[in-house]
Amino acid sequence: LSNGLAQTPQMGWNSWNFFACDINETLIKETADALISTGLADLGYNYVNIDDCWEAFTRDEKDQLVPDPKTFPSGIKALADYVHDKNLKLGIYSSAGVFTCQVRPASLFHENDDAATWASWGVDYLKYDNCFNLGIKPIDRYPPMRDALNSTGRKIFYSLCEWGEDDPALWAGDVGNSWRTTDDIEDTWASMTSIADLNDKWAAYAGPGGWNDPDMLEVGNGGMTYLEYRSHFSIWALMKAPLLIGCDVRNMTAETFEILSNKEVIDVNQDPLGIQGRKVNASGTDGCLQVWAGPLSGNRFAVVLWNRCSEAGTIKVTWNTLGLESSISVSVRDLWKHEDVVADAVASFGVPVEAHSCEMFVLTPKGSSFQV
Ligand code: GLA
Ligand code: GLA
Repeated sequence: LSNGLAQTPQMGWNSWNFFACDINETLIKETADALISTGLADLGYNYVNIDDCWEAFTRDEKDQLVPDPKTFPSGIKALADYVHDKNLKLGIYSSAGVFTCQVRPASLFHENDDAATWASWGVDYLKYDNCFNLGIKPIDRYPPMRDALNSTGRKIFYSLCEWGEDDPALWAGDVGNSWRTTDDIEDTWASMTSIADLNDKWAAYAGPGGWNDPDMLEVGNGGMTYLEYRSHFSIWALMKAPLLIGCDVRNMTAETFEILSNKEVIDVNQDPLGIQGRKVNASGTDGCLQVWAGPLSGNRFAVVLWNRCSEAGTIKVTWNTLGLESSISVSVRDLWKHEDVVADAVASFGVPVEAHSCEMFVLTPKGSSFQV
């Protein structure tokens, strides 16, 4: 959507994956504080997004949305002011249906009123869900909110959460700044890997202004190992997915922080070229030894060697799969070791990779300019 936003994938935090409905204004403020104090905000995580359950169960007497008076007694405007004072942005949530998924009021047929309400509060981002949609097609339900947000005059990031219904990559490019390509992620290896594959299919449709959204990060929520979370983060970054942290950033382990704060991996995600990396090779049993790659600015390439097998294995990227001539000499930087590992690889580069782990690299062919 050409509203000037989403030139790179959105980054920030969202309440749903860890807190679900158990949210309140203190949590949102403490999260904003933690994004600042940990340094995550400086790395680009600047949206603080409130998901479902912020609302009272009914609209007010003027038919306007109101925050839940028990959990958000100071109101959303006060929260927006609080996060704006920290140079962060505030996101809110509704559904293109008659209720949200947790059965609070939603915005189908209330688009103009609700967009105006959010704009008056200083909201910067809307996640717009798909529950209780009366069976009306997404292509008919999502554009009215785009137009309503636009007519407020406030720049509001528009995140479509239509769960991949009706293949949004094919129609959402001029509707939203991102669109979900799949059902909800779960905090498991099986869910994360299958979502990566489903999202991969739509790589050609992502770019500045509109991104494929394979759902929010589960890093730090406990259902996967350190190496699995490292794979999750690396592949999401490579796929130019939104990097929306889904854990409790007030209480992160050192390992969780190490993953989420890897600036070299974030830089791949935020590369100005904005081309979604994809699966370019799969070998081994059921194709579990995988190469995912995509071009970066400065004629470089990002490469993830991803071992989805149950045993360690060596994975190799050949220059052929990147569209490079075999004779070209390439330097290789390891984004998890933070080291230049090879100065002049020719034809291919491979390393052993542990089970359910990945290694991630930037490849710079000789003679390429390195500036962004
Ligand atoms: C849907 C969305 C989730 C989350 C919940 C909230 O399932 O896909 O991301 O917003 O609703 O109820
Ligand atoms: C491609 C890959 C290699 C290997 C083979 C298997 O060439 O680049 O690493 O996986 O496929 O056919």
